[in-house]
Amino acid sequence: MQADGGLVAVYPGTFDPVTNGHLDLVQRCAPLVDRLVVSVLAHETKSPLFSAEERVDMLKVVLRGFLNVEIDFFDGLLIDYARRKKARLILRGIRAISDYEYELQMALMNRRLAPEIETMFMMAGEAHSFISSRLVKEVIRLGGNISGLVPPSVEEVLRRRLLNQGG
Ligand code: PNS
Repeated sequence: MQADGGLVAVYPGTFDPVTNGHLDLVQRCAPLVDRLVVSVLAHETKSPLFSAEERVDMLKVVLRGFLNVEIDFFDGLLIDYARRKKARLILRGIRAISDYEYELQMALMNRRLAPEIETMFMMAGEAHSFISSRLVKEVIRLGGNISGLVPPSVEEVLRRRLLNQGG
């Protein structure tokens, strides 16, 4: 599995949009692997605020300093995609206990489907442990301050999308 490309990890998610919590995780994982593929789930049933292209573009801007990080998108089963990428690891972040049940179910299902791929959980720093894309969108929509929760470039895109609608 580690033949030519070294140790590859896939970090899948909706990233609607990328937050400082996601960035923190990339920062922690990238030095541990040869290649980290951050991959956006393109056709999401949750009807994301941003298109897959927009989410990929935002990730490209904020992760451009990471030499071993690739940004991509995927559809279909995560493990099929991970296999195509020759990944040995799936990276997922855990914030609170409330994340655990959902993450455990996914990890065990993915293990059943692809026993050779391991899910690796990492925790973002405490300063980021309460951040979620959903809450960030809610706070900015209601006029709250989101600085420090998302990168400045993402804050700008969010402001344009959510606060200038129709204007
Ligand atoms: O950021 P999210 O929304 O928590 O990410 C969820 C994601 C994209 C990791 C998950 O929905 C996923 O892997 N979807 C792909 C479809 C799939 O493989 N489903 C079976 C997983 S058990």
